[in-house]
Amino acid sequence: MDTSFNIMSPENITSPFRRVLQQALNHTLQYLESLQHTPVAATASLADLRLQLGGPLSDTGMEATQVIDELVASTRGGIIGSAGGRFFGWAIGGSLPAALAADWLTSTWDQNAALSACAPAEALIEEICGSWIKELLGLPSGASFALVSGCQMAHVTCLGAARHALLDRLGWNIEYDGLRDAPPIRVLSSSEYHGSIERAVRLLGLGSRCIEELPVDKHGCLQLQALSSALSKRPEAPTIVLLQAGDLNIGAYDRFSELIPLAHRFHAWVHIDGAFGLWAEASPTYRYLLAGVDQADSWATDGHKWLNVPYDCGYAFIADPQAHRSSMSHRASYLTHSDGVRDEIDWNPEWSRRGRGVATYAALRQLGKEGVAQLIERCCRHAHDLVTRIGALPGAQLMWEPQINQGLVRFLDSRPQATPVDHNHQTDAVIAAVMRSGEAFFSGTTWQGKRCMRVSVCNWQTSEGDVARALAAIKQVLEAEMRK
Ligand SMILES: Cc1ncc(COP(=O)(O)O)c(C=O)c1O
Repeated sequence: MDTSFNIMSPENITSPFRRVLQQALNHTLQYLESLQHTPVAATASLADLRLQLGGPLSDTGMEATQVIDELVASTRGGIIGSAGGRFFGWAIGGSLPAALAADWLTSTWDQNAALSACAPAEALIEEICGSWIKELLGLPSGASFALVSGCQMAHVTCLGAARHALLDRLGWNIEYDGLRDAPPIRVLSSSEYHGSIERAVRLLGLGSRCIEELPVDKHGCLQLQALSSALSKRPEAPTIVLLQAGDLNIGAYDRFSELIPLAHRFHAWVHIDGAFGLWAEASPTYRYLLAGVDQADSWATDGHKWLNVPYDCGYAFIADPQAHRSSMSHRASYLTHSDGVRDEIDWNPEWSRRGRGVATYAALRQLGKEGVAQLIERCCRHAHDLVTRIGALPGAQLMWEPQINQGLVRFLDSRPQATPVDHNHQTDAVIAAVMRSGEAFFSGTTWQGKRCMRVSVCNWQTSEGDVARALAAIKQVLEAEMRK
């Protein structure tokens, strides 16, 4: 190890960074350590925040320390507590301590992780993360990968490779000829696909009408027969079959071991949306849900949800590295490409980019395989506890008992003549009242035509105490509703 650089003692340093970074550290700890005592939802109105943050850009600048102090002061009430354990909205994880600290270092180092030549350590870190995650998620060791900004861009990356492979088989060079006059690609999916799929096909020029929605069974899984007849209708068409590993509302898993071989008999490309659900593979208890998923052609997931890596962090995996690279890679004379190492630009949609593998590397090292499994199992346990206990409260109805970390409840209007629309309003009203209490944060959804409250447990910090607090807050709101 090179010991020729001595770290100078702080007294000898007059750095433009020291005071402001120490101040940022103080603000950071103040935020993180008060999460248990502060309201989890926003307390400032957008109008107030706009007033606090806006105004004309001043002609002259100011001290960095003043910028940071004012930033913290003027965002007060507008930073929600999604980093903490009482946040159950959407599918949002917090940040593991090592991942957060590594994310700071990533900004500090400020490397351009496009090429190994300009960020050698980060290029290797991404290589290592790719193979660790493949192992954890049970994906083929030969799959290529990209670390992208989130599952949205993981879909774009994976479906870009799919588009290449499907059209290449028909003799169409999509990268050169573009989509004009290209054979149209179909996307077959259950009705429960996430909106990021629709945006991915829009961005790729396939157009959202290429998606054909197929029915699900009572477990929320794509019906085998429906897929079979859709494939048989146009067997010659280049086709992507989209399957869910944990859908957004109920965490449903399609039956991969039946559906993937069927799709492959028709030479379709199978893409898996596993934004959070793919992580169930890390747990021996939940792994059964993913049986056969390794046979797919591409997989998209996130680090910033269940792995608790700071935003922005998603992962794309592609079984055919050639298709992936052909759809993404670019060469330019001013770039420096190194032998024997992976240049991220060959696999990623971005050119210049943040070394986002660093936080993932730190998260995986902090947890180890066992820690990831425990995180998954703990979140599932809390989700089950929370949803079933809310569902048992007077005025509540259990809509979906979690099989992983996602469940649904609904709140009923107690008036004798109450209609389904009244129950929908009551559900939204209860969600809003719980948010106002500041005790817990939940988001709503419409599932099977009914307004529901989604319960998603993704945060590494969520504890039994947080579950009890959230439950008490809901109970209080329901009791107040009854008294009305
Ligand atoms: C099932 C599913 N797929 C895709 C996404 C999109 O992920 P991201 O927000 O990381 O782009 C989400 C986000 O919640 C999701 O729940």
